[in-house]
Amino acid sequence: MADAFDLTIIGSGPGGYVAAIRAAQLGMKVAVVEKWATLGGTCLNIGCIPSKALLHASELFEEAGHGFKALGIDIPKPVLNLPTMMNHKTETVAANVGGVDYLFKKNKITTLRGIGTIVSPGKVLVTPQTGDASEIETKNIVIATGSVSAGLPGIEIDEKRIVTSTGALTLDKVPGKLLVIGAGVIGLELGSVWARLGAQVTVVEYLDRILPGMDSEVARQFQRMLQKQGMEFKLSSKVAGIDKQDDGSLKVRVEPAKGGDMEILDADVALVAIGRKPFTEGLGLDIVGVALDERGRVRVDAHYKTSVDGIYAIGDVIAGPMLAHKAEDEGIAVAEILSGQAGHVNYAAIPAVVYTNPEIASVGKTEDELKAEGIDYKIGKFPFTANGRAKAMLATQGFVKILSDVATDRVLGAHIVGKNAGEMIHELVVLMEFSGSSEDLARSTHAHPTLSEAVREAALSLGDGAIHI
Ligand code: FAD
Ligand code: NAI
Repeated sequence: MADAFDLTIIGSGPGGYVAAIRAAQLGMKVAVVEKWATLGGTCLNIGCIPSKALLHASELFEEAGHGFKALGIDIPKPVLNLPTMMNHKTETVAANVGGVDYLFKKNKITTLRGIGTIVSPGKVLVTPQTGDASEIETKNIVIATGSVSAGLPGIEIDEKRIVTSTGALTLDKVPGKLLVIGAGVIGLELGSVWARLGAQVTVVEYLDRILPGMDSEVARQFQRMLQKQGMEFKLSSKVAGIDKQDDGSLKVRVEPAKGGDMEILDADVALVAIGRKPFTEGLGLDIVGVALDERGRVRVDAHYKTSVDGIYAIGDVIAGPMLAHKAEDEGIAVAEILSGQAGHVNYAAIPAVVYTNPEIASVGKTEDELKAEGIDYKIGKFPFTANGRAKAMLATQGFVKILSDVATDRVLGAHIVGKNAGEMIHELVVLMEFSGSSEDLARSTHAHPTLSEAVREAALSLGDGAIHI
């Protein structure tokens, strides 16, 4: 006899597993269908977590090589032990995916291994890698199948020489030359990892700027910082093709985005990081009539309901930023909605962080967006060069930029480039969540000496003036 669940979630990434836990906490009988051997989806297995393990380790390697001396720490030149660094990454992933297993058991969530296909509303077929398929009955279904790397026509990924982020997280030696296609978050984070470990990194970007979507002043200044670290950029350029040589190396054909003379770049490894696309293959959506939008994302209403009653969708597979915490918050919201509560995500206050050194963190509107929308805004800025703690840490690169409404002083957006920016952004997230003003922030005492004082000083500069500049 088929099992009956209140909720069946397809996909165990940050969207799916968080939805499952909250739904179970709210009293539902929950099943999660996952085709991979481990839980946690892209983020825990091949995304956020392994990339941050390597970013952390490679940052310390770089600091030990170049940063320690100025602090009076004389050590021999550090030697890279890549297998041990990779082992640290693997163990970090194992601990995190194991954590999800534990949480599922604790919350009495049923894990069903296999590919989930929606047969009809209320029925999901689970096809395991080996053994028979089984059909389960369920009141509601949540699609949380995430996204996969987008490919470039004519360029075949082998995950050894021509890689996506997945291959770039498992290289067995440091490439002499790494060519990165796409100056987005993945290109800059993973480009940073390998540059710190010794690769010569060239980034080819189609647009005339890096990090599209981020505040353009932030992106401009950050590009200079990365160039100082040795990364090279070829903006307004595209890769027309990659030719594999007999010795395994690559000849990359690069040409101006608008056409013109082709240039051949040598590379040992090419990383294709031109974005990700929603993943809906094998779900049977066309058969049950779940509508997709023009970019292949599952169409949902404000309550995450698809075009079919009883079928919902969250995370990377629907519209919005492809971020783990966005997927998680949608997971909580949909579970609350399904149990009769008023689940909600405030899309105006979702932070985004690039975990490079320095980090970039942002929330709300960019200056470019405010200009385009014709909103009267004022800018409060404060550089880390004027922050005592940053000086003590030799981390004076970067600045805080807060944008507030001229008429109401309400904070509309904030952008930080600097050490630990990804931690500092959250006071601005909370401020925006409560529709706070720059004066609210400026009047809040900040502990001294902290990097966060630069955030307060940027807010002070929107009023009677910053103190330390
Ligand atoms: P996913 O995490 O993609 O999970 C989908 C799951 O569904 C997978 O486990 C898949 O196997 C399963 N699945 C798919 N189809 C089926 C099916 N038919 N049956 C059964 N199972 C199925 N975001 C951040 O916020 N911070 C970061 O630092 C960050 N770093 C990243 C680094 C990299 C290299 C990458 C690639 C991404 C990163 N992201 C980061 C993005 C983040 O990983 C995604 O936004 C997040 O994982 C989306 O969660 P999700 O639950 O929607 O889907
Ligand atoms: P992205 O959308 O961030 O950047 C892709 C870049 O490639 C853009 O700059 C784009 O203009 C460029 N591009 C597109 N086509 C190109 C072409 N043919 N030639 C040259 N350049 C081209 O996508 P990315 O970096 O692949 O990351 C995918 C998603 O994963 C992101 O949207 C992000 O949400 C998520 N992610 C988040 C992280 C974080 O939060 N720290 C870390 C890594 C990924």
